[in-house]
Amino acid sequence: MNRLLCVLVLIALCVGFNNAKMKNFVHFKNSLLQKNILKIHCQSDEDDLGIHFLSPGQTYNFSFNDSIFKTKIDCELWQGIGFKFFAKFMAYKSGGLILHHGKKIFWDAREDGIYFTHGKQIPKLEYKWVDTSPYVWDSPRPSLF
Ligand SMILES: *[C@@H]1O[C@H](CO)[C@@H](O)[C@H](O)[C@H]1NC(C)=O
Ligand SMILES: *[C@@H]1O[C@H](CO)[C@@H](O)[C@H](O)[C@H]1NC(C)=O
Repeated sequence: MNRLLCVLVLIALCVGFNNAKMKNFVHFKNSLLQKNILKIHCQSDEDDLGIHFLSPGQTYNFSFNDSIFKTKIDCELWQGIGFKFFAKFMAYKSGGLILHHGKKIFWDAREDGIYFTHGKQIPKLEYKWVDTSPYVWDSPRPSLF
């Protein structure tokens, strides 16, 4: 291994151990209208975090330790009648050698889309729902699934 890489790995490990208790949190909240259930399915490179259902007002979170290997978490969300509204996005991504600790990410599912904030700023609309119900007047289009 070359010397610079050695030093970088050492630094990364030290930073990692010093902050081992500060895990990263990803939060989800159902801020949809009454009775509108939110379905969530998240997966990282290694783990399937399972399917979760949230009633309006409920939250769901998971935490994890960043590693020097790339951490990436993709999530799929559904809501509406027959869960016809769909969104898929990367809920979290780590930057490789720079480890993140105590990072907080909030995804707020609202009727007009999914809002994002790190907690301090006002949540910002990041992803819109895609209506997956078939269009009667449209020619067939590729399925999202
Ligand atoms: C994350 O780090 C903490 C503290 O070192 C440890 O207790 C926990 O098991 C780790 N969690 C995972 C998912 O590796
Ligand atoms: C994450 O969710 C669990 C279970 O609902 C809850 O007890 C915990 O307080 C949440 N953690 C954070 C940091 O919000």
